[in-house]
Amino acid sequence: MFWETTLVAAALAAVAEGAQPGAPAPVAAPMRDLEWGQVNFLHTTDIHGWLGGHLQEALYSADWGDYISFTEHMRQKANEQGVDLLVIDTGDRIEGNGLYDGSDPKGKYSYDIFREQSVDAVCTGNHELYQIDSVAREHNITVPNFKKSYIASNLDYIEPQTGDQIPQAQRYIKLKTKNQGLNVVALGFLFNFDRNANNSVVQPVEETLKEEWFKNAIREKPDLFLVIGHVGLRMKEFDLIFSAIRDQNWYTPIAFFGGHAHVRDAKKYDDKAFAIASGRYLETIGWMSVDGIKKSKDEVSAEASVSFKRRYIDNNLFGLHYHTGLNETTFPTEHGRNVSKMIMEGRKALDLDNAFGCAPQDLWMSRAEYPSNASIFTWLEEQVMPDAVVNKERADKPRLAILNTGAIRFDIFKGAFTKDSTYLISPFESKFNYIPDVPYAVASKVLHMLNNRGQVFGGSGLDTRYMTIPEQMAPRPSLFEEPVTAADEPQLRIFGGSGDQQIPLSSSSGDDKGTGKEPELVGGYTTKDDLGTDGDDAVHSPIRFFAVPNCVQSEAAFPEDGDPDTVDLVFIDYVQPWIIPALKFSGGDYSTNDVRVYLNSTLTDVIAGWVKEHWGDGDC
Ligand SMILES: *[C@@H]1O[C@H](CO)[C@@H](O)[C@H](O)[C@H]1NC(C)=O
Ligand SMILES: *[C@@H]1O[C@H](CO)[C@@H](O)[C@H](O)[C@H]1NC(C)=O
Ligand SMILES: *[C@@H]1O[C@H](CO)[C@@H](O)[C@H](O)[C@H]1NC(C)=O
Ligand SMILES: *[C@@H]1O[C@H](CO)[C@@H](O)[C@H](O)[C@H]1NC(C)=O
Ligand SMILES: *[C@@H]1O[C@H](CO)[C@@H](O)[C@H](O)[C@H]1NC(C)=O
Ligand SMILES: *[C@@H]1O[C@H](CO)[C@@H](O)[C@H](O)[C@H]1NC(C)=O
Repeated sequence: MFWETTLVAAALAAVAEGAQPGAPAPVAAPMRDLEWGQVNFLHTTDIHGWLGGHLQEALYSADWGDYISFTEHMRQKANEQGVDLLVIDTGDRIEGNGLYDGSDPKGKYSYDIFREQSVDAVCTGNHELYQIDSVAREHNITVPNFKKSYIASNLDYIEPQTGDQIPQAQRYIKLKTKNQGLNVVALGFLFNFDRNANNSVVQPVEETLKEEWFKNAIREKPDLFLVIGHVGLRMKEFDLIFSAIRDQNWYTPIAFFGGHAHVRDAKKYDDKAFAIASGRYLETIGWMSVDGIKKSKDEVSAEASVSFKRRYIDNNLFGLHYHTGLNETTFPTEHGRNVSKMIMEGRKALDLDNAFGCAPQDLWMSRAEYPSNASIFTWLEEQVMPDAVVNKERADKPRLAILNTGAIRFDIFKGAFTKDSTYLISPFESKFNYIPDVPYAVASKVLHMLNNRGQVFGGSGLDTRYMTIPEQMAPRPSLFEEPVTAADEPQLRIFGGSGDQQIPLSSSSGDDKGTGKEPELVGGYTTKDDLGTDGDDAVHSPIRFFAVPNCVQSEAAFPEDGDPDTVDLVFIDYVQPWIIPALKFSGGDYSTNDVRVYLNSTLTDVIAGWVKEHWGDGDC
């Protein structure tokens, strides 16, 4: 279990060299260089509020202020070379970190911190759209903050005063790059999401492609199309957009930036169209460069060769220093330092470091097998839920309680379990509902149905994948080499391969920065994508990942012997749309009228309460 040792060792080396106080020191690794082209991109996606960086993982401990310093140096490097740098964010900026979720109203600090970055193209994720409030804040705050760069190709907003349906932001933008003077047409999409709050309207991509404005946009004849989207690269939406643009523009290069799936990935559409996805939670800063772009006055032809390069940069100060050729004294810019200070003040005001207890061990979402003692889902199923998901008036009734694995967003690390940890693990507002006194023979079949995708819900349009963790919803082929079948029989998956360690490192700068010392490899991403296995900027040893089911279930208050006749079927409210049909297929005729509130507390409250009670006097 080398990865545990290395991560823990890194976390223990907690000295204040990372940007946030208490963040672990950056770690060294053999590095691959960034390859520049005419147009270069830095890309974040699915930040989910982690603007403070990872305070328990040395590999990702730089913060948004450091990213701003990095971007400022990289823009300067671009200017010196006469090339361009564009900064992209593809949504899901909110939900998943105390810096957003811990304030009232939510995002009191995080919107102001995010806006400090100068972003050239930005769009919306599904997480901005679950709550009426967050949709409105996106419209009231983020859209005006990024007036020129916010793109909403298939998203509308319902104005509260008038009830009018208006574009959330401009449908597309045209820009001319600063140094190369290239004309770019940029589009910004969201996948065909349908669980959005009712003050937003997501237009299915198929419909958007028929709109007059879209047809005009793809007739613009730019030098480069830029398509950003909160869309997994292996989802159909980007394929549709690619085909529509390509039908009209046979040879124009197209650069896609996606997200949502929380993975590092790159996909080739054709010789002149590539996409990257840049991970999650500010672990990854994506880099893409495009070369061989012809100005529109030149003849654009089939022969013109366009090259795409990509890197997945760990959000590790060591690497940020390496790529800029700077050090801890020369790297932070005044603006970057100011933003790190804003983050520190926000975290302090929200008391995010307040320890609720001490976790006795690491608990993993997918780095440990499920079920096992190191699995966060086994912990929830066996310890937390039976104890803390209880309706006092029905405490003696046998119950089955179902939780979807997607409700959990992050691992627990051995050591201090803080107010922030509760939001990292469980940021959502989901509460528990139930149907009383369901015959056990019926209720006991539900979990199996939820975990076997397709079979029950095939015709109903309810995809069971929406219940699992994002990493598994739209996996790239190399992450899960065969489809995850019976999810209640999890199979071992290997992320990357040992061959990665043999990859020769580029060292175009000729010096021995990083590579000279041959540091021991730290466990981390070892990405395989359509361009190969050399995408990660730092060379890591691979981490093993295990598949998880869509849902887990705990039993409580069961009789000593035999099965109960009836049970309360308790479930997190998010899965209710699947529960009713699953019951029907199990022989139980229930409707939403039979559903009652089981517990008014959120899953977040449940976990925080359990930790205080059971880990509260732990010595960290
Ligand atoms: C957004 O702005 C509208 C109009 O000014 C206002 O009515 C609404 O309360 C605001 N909502 C939020 C969540 O800020
Ligand atoms: C949206 O839902 C809210 C509460 O669920 C309701 O008060 C409001 O009237 C609805 N708005 C529209 C436009 O349907
Ligand atoms: C950082 O770089 C500057 C300029 O090259 C140099 O003067 C300084 O000594 C370096 N600092 C450290 C800590 O290496
Ligand atoms: C940084 O903050 C200081 C103090 O608030 C302010 O005077 C300065 O203008 C800021 N600098 C930048 C580049 O944001
Ligand atoms: C899990 O922990 C329990 C209690 O400490 C122990 O009895 C059991 O053997 C462990 N199981 C595994 C698979 O490690
Ligand atoms: C939940 O809260 C509502 C409103 O305060 C209350 O009527 C209801 O009894 C509560 N339900 C439970 C199960 O606590």
